[in-house]
Amino acid sequence: MSVDGFGSVAQVFLPDALGHGVRLRGWVLRTRSSGGILFVLLRDRSGVVQVTGRRDGLGDAAFDAAEHVQVEGAIEVEGTVAEDRRAPGGREVRATTVRVVHAGEPFPIFTDQTEEFRLDHRHLVVRSQEHVATFRVKAELLRALREFLDREEVLEMTPPILSGNAAEGGAEAFQIDYFGRPGYLSQTAQLYLEALLFPNERVYGLTPSFRAEKSRTPRHLTEYLHLEVELAWCDLTGLLDFEERMVVAVAHALAERRPAELRALGRPPEELARLAAPFPRITYAEAIDRLASQGFSVRWGSDLGTAEERALTVEERVPLFVTRFPKELKAFYMLRSADDSRTVEAADLLAPEGYGEMIGGSCRETDLARLTERLQETGANVAEYEWYLDLRRHGSVQHAGFGLGIERMLRWILRREHIRETTPFPRTPSRHTP
Ligand code: 4AD
Ligand code: MG
Repeated sequence: MSVDGFGSVAQVFLPDALGHGVRLRGWVLRTRSSGGILFVLLRDRSGVVQVTGRRDGLGDAAFDAAEHVQVEGAIEVEGTVAEDRRAPGGREVRATTVRVVHAGEPFPIFTDQTEEFRLDHRHLVVRSQEHVATFRVKAELLRALREFLDREEVLEMTPPILSGNAAEGGAEAFQIDYFGRPGYLSQTAQLYLEALLFPNERVYGLTPSFRAEKSRTPRHLTEYLHLEVELAWCDLTGLLDFEERMVVAVAHALAERRPAELRALGRPPEELARLAAPFPRITYAEAIDRLASQGFSVRWGSDLGTAEERALTVEERVPLFVTRFPKELKAFYMLRSADDSRTVEAADLLAPEGYGEMIGGSCRETDLARLTERLQETGANVAEYEWYLDLRRHGSVQHAGFGLGIERMLRWILRREHIRETTPFPRTPSRHTP
């Protein structure tokens, strides 16, 4: 019970609640009345419950007022928990009083409206049962990730979002006017996390990243939530082991804590509970061979796009690591392989069932000369990276890290067709409002 005497819907479903009184408040999913009996589906933060009330019990005025509450109107009720086999969850609240807090206007959201209409009304669509379930799972995902990182002694850092340089390649950065000088919205916190690695050894940031890519695909947002980890004294095997432990821990936590939401959204929790390490690991070269044998016209040096990633994983139930990419395909900061000067010690983790890349990671180049050379090769303005190069001048040690796209991971976990369904207010090339 809260201080002002209101309980929550979840209380109704506790084993010993039958026959007990409850006081609830929340929003109306549906109302109907027949034969002097009112039926209301009521939602609060903890769930949905059926409330019934009789005209003779509630009184004419209260009954009439309650009957006219619109979808998403707000009410308070007092009543007794009773069994009802037809009600969701097998129980209902038999109300003795119903008070209308806000009857509301007719709710403009129905099924079968166009996607454009629904995106224009996203501020109301977020009340749908689908979104309620989605964002509960997302909150739990973030919590489980933080718990895992805490157990692994990785410290949360708060890197900046505004920056004077564009880290992943200038073309895809959102540029802003920073008091008359160019500024950029962060595409990655990695370079800052590397600076923070040296005093702390294991660090992470959970921050928005921005990509000014015009890609209209079901897996690209222009703003997404980015979990980035940097680990000192870590090689590629250590990095992949860490990622694997993290994905398994989080899948298990979700299966345990949000089974009803997962099931409602089309992901049987048992599938997540079954997920186990190790995940298969193949090199980029092996991936190219596999794709070529499937009829793709790819050769060494080809980028793996949506279709290729899909083909590699569509039959899989477990994520797949692809390692050791040609250096031309990857960012300047990746460590050159010791036994092959053409490749870097990078690994992408592809989600199963064809959902594509969800983590990009690598060992970092620690050698100042090589790093500078790679920067020059990529055509970057080396002067902008002077501060980053300083990190290789003072106790430069082997380290590795990765970035996980939270919405990408959630898209796989919740089997969503489009990534925009994994974030409340999606930002895409065609939309940044509401
Ligand atoms: O592979 P990316 O570009 O790697 C980096 O930014 C590294 N600096 C990260 C690091 O090592 N600290 O992005 C990392 C992940 C991708 O694997 C993907 O999951 C996600 O970020 N991502 C996107 N998610 C949604 N919309 C987009 N446009 C995304 N671009 C990347
Ligand atoms: Mg990537």
